[in-house]
Amino acid sequence: MKIACVGAGPAGLYFAISMKLRDMRHEIEVFERNAPGVTFGWGVVFSDLTVDNITRNDPVSAEIITAEFAHWDDIDVHFKGETVTSGGHGFIGIGRKRLLEILQNRARELGVVLHFDAECDPADRKWRNYDLVIASDGINSRFRDAQPEAFGVDVDVRSNRFVWLGTSKVFDAFTFAFEKTEHGWIWAHAYRFAPDCSTFIVECSEETWARLGFDRMSQEESIDACEKLFANYLDGHLLQSNATHLVGSAAWLNFRRIKCERWSSDNVILLGDAAHTAHFSIGSGTKLALEDAIKLADVLNRKSLSLEAALDEYQAERSLEVLKLQNSARNSTEWFETLERYTHFEPLQFAYSLLTRSQRISHENLRLRDREWLEGVERWFWKRATNGRSNRTAPPMFAPFRLREMEVQNRVTVSPMAMYSAVDGVTNDFHFVHYGERAIGGAGLIFTEMTCVSPEGRISPGCTGMWNPQHVAAWKRIVDFVHAQSKAKICLQLGHSGGKGSTKLGWEGNDVPLDTGNWPVMAASDVPWSPVNQVPKPMTRSDMDTVRQQFVAAVRMGLEAGFDMVELHAAHGYLLSSFITPLQNRRLDQYGGSLEGRLRYPLEVFAAMRAAWPSDRPMSVRISANDWAGEDGITPADAVQIGEAFAREGADLIDVSAGQTWAGQQPVYGRMFQTPFSDRVRNEGRLATMAVGNIYEPDHANSILAAGRADLVALARPHLVDPFWTLRAAAQLDYRDIAVPPQYLNGMAQLARNLKRDAESAAALRV
Ligand SMILES: Cc1cc2nc3c(=O)[nH]c(=O)nc-3n(C[C@H](O)[C@H](O)[C@H](O)COP(=O)(O)OP(=O)(O)OC[C@H]3O[C@@H](n4cnc5c(N)ncnc54)[C@H](O)[C@@H]3O)c2cc1C
Ligand SMILES: Cc1cc2nc3c(=O)[nH]c(=O)nc-3n(C[C@H](O)[C@H](O)[C@H](O)COP(=O)(O)O)c2cc1C
Repeated sequence: MKIACVGAGPAGLYFAISMKLRDMRHEIEVFERNAPGVTFGWGVVFSDLTVDNITRNDPVSAEIITAEFAHWDDIDVHFKGETVTSGGHGFIGIGRKRLLEILQNRARELGVVLHFDAECDPADRKWRNYDLVIASDGINSRFRDAQPEAFGVDVDVRSNRFVWLGTSKVFDAFTFAFEKTEHGWIWAHAYRFAPDCSTFIVECSEETWARLGFDRMSQEESIDACEKLFANYLDGHLLQSNATHLVGSAAWLNFRRIKCERWSSDNVILLGDAAHTAHFSIGSGTKLALEDAIKLADVLNRKSLSLEAALDEYQAERSLEVLKLQNSARNSTEWFETLERYTHFEPLQFAYSLLTRSQRISHENLRLRDREWLEGVERWFWKRATNGRSNRTAPPMFAPFRLREMEVQNRVTVSPMAMYSAVDGVTNDFHFVHYGERAIGGAGLIFTEMTCVSPEGRISPGCTGMWNPQHVAAWKRIVDFVHAQSKAKICLQLGHSGGKGSTKLGWEGNDVPLDTGNWPVMAASDVPWSPVNQVPKPMTRSDMDTVRQQFVAAVRMGLEAGFDMVELHAAHGYLLSSFITPLQNRRLDQYGGSLEGRLRYPLEVFAAMRAAWPSDRPMSVRISANDWAGEDGITPADAVQIGEAFAREGADLIDVSAGQTWAGQQPVYGRMFQTPFSDRVRNEGRLATMAVGNIYEPDHANSILAAGRADLVALARPHLVDPFWTLRAAAQLDYRDIAVPPQYLNGMAQLARNLKRDAESAAALRV
């Protein structure tokens, strides 16, 4: 084939090499606008996996590249005058200029023709003379941007500013240096990539950047200012730029995340940064470019594939890899964009939060990398959790947590889950066994299902209630068992179904009205949940008084039944949530309109409940922190204000759920998918929070807690099939101090031994 590669970056050069290696008959020309040896950027980092891939593809160039790698293990985080060092991270890096030199030499050796000082114009007719034109022309690809529709280009310009500099100061560790200025935080990502040279990327928010005057500085002035700001780390070494073609503040970029729906059009194929970008803070752009090149060369040389099938396979496989990386990169980008949220942390937790920011590195990953450091984090966590009483090293999920006078023995909670098994709201033997079993299963805190304050406030005829003495007695039996037979605390979740009421049992159809015997429903406004649901009656002031009194009466009954804690359910589109979300609240009175207006009634209810509940016992509120409706609905930013408003009324914990507030929601699911909302409410609002939503491994729980993304973690569905989730986690993590029912001690010891033996065999197999 006759092929033109536009751009002699890692993608274009490595593709040319990979094609020649597979079939020397290909005629390949690479066109580069720059002169040889002129390039932007400094060093790039690689992973071991990338090294394996390039070694398999071309051992010759891989040998030269790997021989020149700079290796380092430690990450230093400089923050608030302290340096936190953790090890075992195993980085390798090389200068970008040197990498390109090696690839250019190898390409020439294989007969690739290289043209430098050759600016390419996509409109030029000469591209028609090539079978394929590889658009490896980088993030600002002219070839991609010439046909944005054909490629389905999606660009997301991120808010922080960064500049890619170099320095002769040799950093022994991968260094993050955070500096507080009177205009906000600014930080550097620095690492050595040659014996005498390091990359030094400076980043800050757009506001800090402007306030520091970088928008009005020449490049030299910018560099001067950065040298002053980071003088403590540079030991007199200078910073340098090689983006000399960029004038003034233009060297400061906003990262652009690129995604393309299609990676080829006519004879043009996108490769590397032209097709996709991943934020520099996870350092994977070059890896993606090299791996794209290998895959594209592979499919184009597979005789059994037509060109169309080859390109389909190329995009299908590579876009999956890119998606995974872009997801991690998004988390990492956002962490740096919302840095000020974490600057109240102590240095150790700040460093932990930084290391786990992309969710690719978890608590147990960190243990593998640097056991001693991680144990230091665990010791710190326990010390804080116990006000200095304990100095132990143990997983954060087992640390106690205090809310007012209630202390839970660990941070795992059984999330509220409707069982739809009550008759006339009365709990029965099913509930007795269900809650009892979960209490002895080891979780620190058990939530009841949404227990309704009136018969009309039920979701379904099977919902539990708290409106008459029979309910109190039946709940008391359960609460007494939990207290007598376990160390768990139990929280009564109280709610009213609003417009989502009068529906079938969960497993007969979610939110589907009853076939017969429907009761009238009311909500903030006359907005039905869906076309098949009833149109609710908008609540009058007198309805509001009645419902508030029902909540208060239920709180008093909860006290009589012996509950340790009460939660108000103000999430998921039920009555109080229908006031908070603008998607359901159309009221024109003081209970609608602004967020303040929409919160007025839910806060009134909460305050009345709080007044009826003893001041030494805690209360929480469950909120939907995101309507998954963009700016039209509740956003995570609103959630901070909602949390703060409830906290002012005496809420001790914000239970941060999301969604289910309108039928058209578009949630973005994934592991721990709602935890970022808890993180935001906790660290922007400085409130205690509980995270929930697809948290299912002990490792998730420990990572969330140690990184300060929540104070408690709630697991719902995992507890449906495994009431003993917490005991199992304790056995797995070899944590012995958990309360185990004496009847089960034998089984627990056996499980711990078996899991330990399995882990040792798995480790031996890996070696
Ligand atoms: C601050 C920063 C730090 C980074 N750190 C890392 C890291 O640590 N590890 C990592 O793996 N990646 C890192 N990256 C990303 C990495 O630089 C890119 O992902 C990688 O360079 C992509 O390779 P490429 O060949 O697709 O594009 P590029 O390297 O951008 O190459 C494109 C080439 O095309 C040329 N070109 C463009 N248009 C034309 C034209 N019209 N005519 C002729 N030539 C043209 C350009 O001059 C350039 O040489 C970082 C990026 C930034 C911004
Ligand atoms: C069967 C079932 C019933 C639920 N009932 C309630 C409920 O009564 N109150 C509530 O606030 N959330 C309820 N939820 C939501 C859960 O508490 C939790 O927020 C959600 O399932 C996400 O957590 P998970 O991924 O751990 O399951 C219910 C979830 C399930 C699966």
